[in-house]
Amino acid sequence: MADLDDIRDGDNFGLNTPADTSNFYLKGMNSMSWGIKNRMSRIFNRKSGRTVMLAFDHGFLMGPTSGLERIDLNIAPLAEEADCLMGCRGMIRTSIPADNTKPICLRTDTGTTILTEMNHNTLISEEDAISMNASAMAAMVAVGDAATEASTIANLSNLVDIGNTYGIPVMGVTAVGKDMARDARYFGLASRVCAENGASIVKTYYTEGFEKVVAGTPVPVVIAGGKKLPELEALELCYNAIQCGASGVDMGRNVFQSEAPLAMIKAVKEVVHNGATPQEGFDAFNTFKAEA
Ligand code: R5P
Repeated sequence: MADLDDIRDGDNFGLNTPADTSNFYLKGMNSMSWGIKNRMSRIFNRKSGRTVMLAFDHGFLMGPTSGLERIDLNIAPLAEEADCLMGCRGMIRTSIPADNTKPICLRTDTGTTILTEMNHNTLISEEDAISMNASAMAAMVAVGDAATEASTIANLSNLVDIGNTYGIPVMGVTAVGKDMARDARYFGLASRVCAENGASIVKTYYTEGFEKVVAGTPVPVVIAGGKKLPELEALELCYNAIQCGASGVDMGRNVFQSEAPLAMIKAVKEVVHNGATPQEGFDAFNTFKAEA
């Protein structure tokens, strides 16, 4: 029996303190569910509002490419410095220790490899994404590719339905096909399509006029790094994207193919979170490298 004799009346209602009605700190997230906001808070630093995601999903397209031969040796040691780990379920399960507490952005679609044409991707099951404790789910959209545009946009849209049910944000990944123009008009269109279909994060590529891509996309935009560049140039890429309003990076090759991957991810964080210029970031890279 509940003890009815000793119920203590509350007397600390903070009557002079109004309820907090402030907005959520990330662009476009006010109307999202508590679960989506909570998971976004795990991915995006509350102070800077930005993220440094470490992408290592390349193997599902490319196999054991340079820098990803052994995820347990190449990526796991970098995990502590990343704000979020973005990869495929097989590699995370086998090669990232389960006591990792960094949020996972799970690559939730899969398809063909670089040996064939643009991906006819399909989604993995949401049960598996949930079982991986995913903080976000990512799927590619091939805007502009006649063969796969409709099916990949349908994938994204279906994934958003699933994400909304379980409170898991979805990241739309804008693909770049061989025949697609890599300019602000194209990336602006592709990014907007992701947001229109309900993505909570959009991953795209930096280009001239990137401020328009960001402005036309009402949710946080992160950039992929693309092919390996000299470290200073990669840091310039991050800096320019941030100056244009990007909310961070989802970077792979420019970190794990760097001559000093740990120093590089730390330097990227200096630029993304701490306002370092490219040169300051590069100086930090050299310092971190020397300390290692
Ligand atoms: C995108 O679909 C890829 O799977 C990578 O996650 C993305 O391109 C980021 O990696 P990187 O910085 O190497 O371009």
